[in-house]
Amino acid sequence: MKQSKSANPFDQWSELLELWHGLVDVEDKRFYQLLAKRFNRPTVELGIGDGRVAATVAPDYGVDFSPVMLEKCRKRLGTSCPYLIEADLKLYHLPERAGFSYAPLNTISHIEPNDRETVFRTILQNTKPGGYFAFDTIVPDLDKIKMRDRAQIYRGRTNSFAIYEVSEVKSYERQEFVLHGIIESIAPNGEVTGKRYFPELSFFYMFPEQIRSLVERTGWQIESVWGDFDETPLTEESRMQIWLLKHPESR
Ligand SMILES: C[S@@+](CC[C@H](N)C(=O)[O-])C[C@H]1O[C@@H](n2cnc3c(N)ncnc32)[C@H](O)[C@@H]1O
Repeated sequence: MKQSKSANPFDQWSELLELWHGLVDVEDKRFYQLLAKRFNRPTVELGIGDGRVAATVAPDYGVDFSPVMLEKCRKRLGTSCPYLIEADLKLYHLPERAGFSYAPLNTISHIEPNDRETVFRTILQNTKPGGYFAFDTIVPDLDKIKMRDRAQIYRGRTNSFAIYEVSEVKSYERQEFVLHGIIESIAPNGEVTGKRYFPELSFFYMFPEQIRSLVERTGWQIESVWGDFDETPLTEESRMQIWLLKHPESR
């Protein structure tokens, strides 16, 4: 597959994600907005991307390691843009500790398994005692992951472009697949005039028991675990897992 080169694949994916999110509405914005209202400020979005969720939640800070994403976020949010910090989640440092941090849209699943503990400890250090951290990711369905291996999945279209995604299993042991993005250009007569390929994006899926062990090892308390943005509890049928963690008051 022909691909363009970048140190950080999210720099290029920012364009595809922007087009995709213009076509599909993810129902996470209102959920994080309601959580943010429940907890003390400052509110921080971790992996803020182009500000898709931040436009609704209005956090005080946004952290991301992709300069292109951050630039798109500045453009989208204009004068209401939060204070942006370009940093890796392994080692970011906020000017003040957060009352509530949140990481939407599987951000946590893009972190290398060896870095996960460091990231969760770094978030804890950047959170006030008694403060909260929420994130969501998929509940892996191994049959679906196997079935979709290397298949081209249609994600949406307009009159001038169509978006596809291919997920390719790299390792069942490491629980890793990579995502390839494709944008097809479409002429007014419907003919496909070009294809652009986006670089591999790693995705490390985690089962709920692995997340439970990770959050306990890194000093967080589990406040709630949901299976959907309407706050239904996580069950064996859930397709996603949403975790709300609390910084223990005593630390
Ligand atoms: C799936 S996007 C989500 C963007 C945005 N939160 C949203 O919901 O639309 C994941 C974002 O996290 C950022 N990200 C991924 N891993 C990161 C890391 N280790 N450190 C900092 N940012 C990271 C990416 O650059 C990207 O903007």
